[in-house]
Amino acid sequence: MLAAAAVEMHELVSRILARHKKDPSSLIPVLQDLQDELRYLPKDCLTMVAHGLGISPATVYGVATFYAQFSLEPKGKYVIRICDGTACHVRGSSPLYQAICKRVQLEDGRATSANGLFTVETVACLGACVLAPVAMINDKVYGQMTPEAINIILDELEKEEEASDHICKTAS
Ligand code: FES
Repeated sequence: MLAAAAVEMHELVSRILARHKKDPSSLIPVLQDLQDELRYLPKDCLTMVAHGLGISPATVYGVATFYAQFSLEPKGKYVIRICDGTACHVRGSSPLYQAICKRVQLEDGRATSANGLFTVETVACLGACVLAPVAMINDKVYGQMTPEAINIILDELEKEEEASDHICKTAS
């Protein structure tokens, strides 16, 4: 890790630890806050969390790898979850998943696109079976999805990204 990045990371972990009690019961909330900020849990951060809460790095690592909500790999800005529960599977979640992977150009079995924008995952029932097949992009649920419909949504997201990039470049 580069020195500047390490300092930033250290400051972030310190800020998050300061919001919680310094004991093992804070482990999951601290990891959730970190995941919210960084979209993943870098290994160096896990060691800092362990020291901060007075628990072993192995325990922190065990919790971080046990829960599906945590990721040790960087995720895209948009996490696309395709439900592959029974109702969604029967109504076409597999072709939907394949279409999305192709659309965001996932390569070499990776779950995150090369531009860091999209991560594609399959999940068990999202609890909206009447809307099958269901996709979720970050916290938003989309029902009765088709490859065409999700392509339109992804086009919109990419346009928003381009527009915000343009605004940032114009401002700097
Ligand atoms: S099976 Fe997909 S929402 Fe229930």
